[in-house]
Amino acid sequence: MKGMELFMDILVVGGGGREHAIIKKIKESPRCDKIYCTPGNGGISCDAKCFDIKADDITGVVELSKGLQVDLVFVAPDNPLVAGMVDALEKEGIAAFGPRANAAELEGSKVFSKRLMKKYNIPTADYEIFDNPADTLTYIRKQGRYPAVLKADGLALGKGVLLCDNYSQAKAAVKSLMQDKIFGAAGSRVVVEEFLTGPEVSVLAFTDGKTICPMVSAKDHKRAFDGDMGPNTGGMGAISPNPNYDDETAEFCMNRIFLPTIQAMNKEGRPFKGCLYFGLMLTLDGPKVIEYNCRFGDPETQVVLPRLKTDLLEIICAIREERLSELNIEWSDDACACVVMASGGYPGEYKKGIKITGLDSNGQLDDVIIFHAGTSKESRDFYTNGGRVLGVTAKGKSVDAALNLAYGAVARIDFKDAHYRRDIGKAAAQEDTKM
Ligand code: AMP
Ligand code: GLY
Repeated sequence: MKGMELFMDILVVGGGGREHAIIKKIKESPRCDKIYCTPGNGGISCDAKCFDIKADDITGVVELSKGLQVDLVFVAPDNPLVAGMVDALEKEGIAAFGPRANAAELEGSKVFSKRLMKKYNIPTADYEIFDNPADTLTYIRKQGRYPAVLKADGLALGKGVLLCDNYSQAKAAVKSLMQDKIFGAAGSRVVVEEFLTGPEVSVLAFTDGKTICPMVSAKDHKRAFDGDMGPNTGGMGAISPNPNYDDETAEFCMNRIFLPTIQAMNKEGRPFKGCLYFGLMLTLDGPKVIEYNCRFGDPETQVVLPRLKTDLLEIICAIREERLSELNIEWSDDACACVVMASGGYPGEYKKGIKITGLDSNGQLDDVIIFHAGTSKESRDFYTNGGRVLGVTAKGKSVDAALNLAYGAVARIDFKDAHYRRDIGKAAAQEDTKM
């Protein structure tokens, strides 16, 4: 196995828009030699050689990494991180980027993360933990406060948070999580949380366990339809910066949330190295943590990484060698916006294999980048192959300028029943004026 060499061969694990953005950014590094992806997708295959080993197949990825003799494996999605892919790679002497399983627990278990925040006085919603349906419902009825926020303890494809407007909804939610186990063991324990209100902000941060460097802020749009209506999705679009996140808020978050979190993880013997994602809500009582993710967010990565000026591979190497404090990470002042084009029906049932047209017409546009989230490629044509299909992304002098460019690019692309939100970035501007 080769060591941390000047020129590096890299394998990225995952296959969505986030991974496409990571690959494009790593390829800008003069130190990047060969780049591979598994499983990747049609669009990613234009930037990296793809393999058909699934992202959560730990043995398969270890074997592939050995066969390719890569210098680094970048594990991007939550499932393999929580399941210990980084530990398995390191055990075989393969360098990996991402937290080990004991640190990925921050996302893997809401019970763990809530207890950590309580123990170390990190601001978050008040909560109680339950492991049986009857006690959960007795508590919700006694509280009598709606919406009641019910969260599955474990990973649930981003769908494990249920907001219940009344007792009968709460009963149905408890039944589906804890009795019918729609998310399997993830729902064996639940967190019942205080309902918070305020603008939401996503802050991703590089950390080597000693130093934490927040990236530029972002805003996700989780609901499927305009006006924040409809079911939660993986994310229908994003903007960066988030207009609600000012310098004063950033300073508060650094001192009361970001640093205390990495210090707490060290004290617990679970040093976190990688990208730590803070899902924040700016409440009237100040910023509070809604959730931690142990990885880059999707689609936030698509608007954050295009603004990164510093070599991402240099940052990754510094994190692995615990010398992040030596780096001065620089960001472009340009704003960035991403509009997700999804398959009709997403996040519910949707068709695959529909031909996408108009991609070529955007290929040459300055400041427009099309990240592929769920596509396949046959000869020169692309077809839909997932719920979220494309992340149409643009940079501009302001969020509005970036949005105009991105929507201009979206108008040139077509596939049958394509669905996208027309109001990406708008809700954030409205929240801004309300504050
Ligand atoms: P999560 O999957 O943990 O990101 O949660 C999904 C969404 O549920 C968040 O983006 C929030 O909009 C909402 N949410 C989660 N927890 C709370 C809470 N305590 N109060 C209000 N909304 C919440
Ligand atoms: N955009 C939220 C997430 O990646 O979980």
